Amino acid sequence: MRLETQSVTRAGANLEATVAGDGAVTVVLLHGYPFDRTMWDPQLRALAARTTVLAPDLRGLGSSELGDGAGDVRTHADDVVAWLARESTSRVVLMGLSMGGYVAFEVWRRARERVAALVLIDTKPTDDSADAKKARVSQREAIREGGMSAVVAPLLDAVLGSTTKASRPDVVEHVRRMILHTKPAGAMAALDAMRTRPDSTPDLAGIDVPTLVLVGEEDGITPPNVARDMAHAIPGATLVTIPAAGHVTSLEAPELVTRALRTFLDGLALDTRH
Ligand code: MLT
Repeated sequence: MRLETQSVTRAGANLEATVAGDGAVTVVLLHGYPFDRTMWDPQLRALAARTTVLAPDLRGLGSSELGDGAGDVRTHADDVVAWLARESTSRVVLMGLSMGGYVAFEVWRRARERVAALVLIDTKPTDDSADAKKARVSQREAIREGGMSAVVAPLLDAVLGSTTKASRPDVVEHVRRMILHTKPAGAMAALDAMRTRPDSTPDLAGIDVPTLVLVGEEDGITPPNVARDMAHAIPGATLVTIPAAGHVTSLEAPELVTRALRTFLDGLALDTRH
C-alpha cells in the first residue's frame, strides 16, 4: 500500500502531509490543536485499504512550517484547498477533529464544490465566547514565556477523557509528545486562528452533503450536548457518540472511531473521480 510523505509550498511555508492508499475516494484528515497528523495513526492504514488518505500537518504545527497567515483560519482552509488541487479527485470526504473541524467549516464556505461529505469530530460550530478569547490570550502568553512545557499539564488534563487518564498511559504519552513537539510559534498562531474564527452556526442548515458528527462521551471541550445540537442543525446528519473517550477520540478509542468512519464511508457509495 502506498504510504508516503508529500509536501507543498504555499504562503511562505513548506507544508507536509502523509498520503496513503490509492482508492477512488479521497479522505482528508485535519488534526486538532496542539497536535499533528500522527493523531490519525490508528485510522490511516484501515482507511487507506479502500480510499486515498491525505493527512496534512496544519501550517505551523507538526512538520509544516509557519510561513504567512497561520493566525487566520482562512489561511489554513486555503492550504487545504491547495492540497486538494493536487488530488485527482474532484471532491473529497473532509474530516476534521476540533481545530480541524473549524478549518473544515472554512473549507466548506470557500470551496464547498470540493466537499462530497463531511465528518465533524469533537468540534463545534460556534465562535469563541469573550471568556474563551481571554483564555486563548492567557495560554498564548504562557507559551510565549515558558514554551509548550508551561501548558502541557493543563492541556493534557483538558483534552483527555477520565478513562484514558486512568487506564491508557500509551495514549497519554502520545498526546504529551505531540504537545511538547509543537513549535511555540505555531501554537501561538493556532490560538490566534481559533480566537478569531467566525461563527459557523449559520452555515449548518445549508450543509447538503452527507455528514457524520462524532464525539467522545467524556469530551469536556466540545461535549456531547454540543455535538447533538450541531447534528440536529445539519440536515440528515448522523451522530455517533464514542464511549469512554475524551476530546482526542481518534487515539482514545481508535477501533470504535475507525469502525464509525468505515461504516460512514461504506454508506456513501461515492466515486469522486473526475
Ligand atoms: C483542539 O483540539 O483543536 C482544540 O482543543 C480546540 C479548541 O481549543 O477550541
